[in-house]
Amino acid sequence: MTEHSQGLLTVVDFIRYAASRFQAAGLHFGHGTDNALDEAAALVLGSLHLPPDLHSVYFQSRLTDAERALLQERIEARIQSRRPVPYILGEAWFCGLSFEVDETVLIPRSPMAELIESGFTPWVEPAGVQRIADVGTGSGCIAIACALAFPEARVDALDVAPGALAWAAHNARRHGVSGQVAVQRSDLLASIPAEPLLDVIVSNPPYVDARAMIDLPPEYQHEPREALAAGADGMDIVRRLLPQAAARLTAEGMLFCEIGHGVRAFTQAFPDLPVTWLEFERGGEGVFAVDAATLQSAFPQ
Ligand SMILES: C[S@@+](CC[C@H](N)C(=O)[O-])C[C@H]1O[C@@H](n2cnc3c(N)ncnc32)[C@H](O)[C@@H]1O
Repeated sequence: MTEHSQGLLTVVDFIRYAASRFQAAGLHFGHGTDNALDEAAALVLGSLHLPPDLHSVYFQSRLTDAERALLQERIEARIQSRRPVPYILGEAWFCGLSFEVDETVLIPRSPMAELIESGFTPWVEPAGVQRIADVGTGSGCIAIACALAFPEARVDALDVAPGALAWAAHNARRHGVSGQVAVQRSDLLASIPAEPLLDVIVSNPPYVDARAMIDLPPEYQHEPREALAAGADGMDIVRRLLPQAAARLTAEGMLFCEIGHGVRAFTQAFPDLPVTWLEFERGGEGVFAVDAATLQSAFPQ
């Protein structure tokens, strides 16, 4: 036990202490939390194997010496290494589901969770969704959440990174959807059969431009570069994805795609493509929806 943490006894003591240390150290928060207190709670509760929404009655619980030593070690690790909390814990949360992760996959955090939770309404008729593809699946979070939201649909979870494919398959097994989610190595949509067509394509592709890659806070430098970087203007992957999506969607099909801060770059790259920018109650930006007909007229086959 270090001198700093000797007087700390309870769960809430450690959350408060960690938050003060994180704030003073000037950490960046962007992997599931956006402030020091939430980050501290995520690290402390996750390390103690307690749920992220733990009832406050338990916050006064005293910790064992071993728990206090572990928390002290992890608080220091978060500050010194700048590793995001989900990599320290080996676990991230998305759509209320736990996903195991390590540094070979992006940490789940897409605002598209809200879209999946709402069954993509009002954009699609949920009863008609039979085939979904998640392009750039990473940990499998989007594909697996989609499988659980649409139990009758088959979901293709596509990626090129071996680490992503391994974690997506592992997480699909953990959530009992291995039979429904086909985890496959595929450069975008290239490796899946042309038929049957897809009702929904959802993608959180790499979209960080070259300038932003240089300025990334240290926390993001722990994530795989190939999950983030997408050329000079951040649109390298999206440029290839849009025509492929046009060719693969059913007549009623929809593409949902996240490009984060790249809205201006997207608009410059595709000035004549009318897309709808979605709004989210829990925050987040840079996600668009576009229907098959619009894509097909912009990218005739
Ligand atoms: C921003 S991450 C998104 C991961 C996950 N969908 C999520 O939301 O947490 C982008 C993913 O796209 C994958 N990727 C990059 N280039 C790809 C390509 N050409 N084809 C398929 N996947 C690709 C990366 O390996 C990475 O897992």
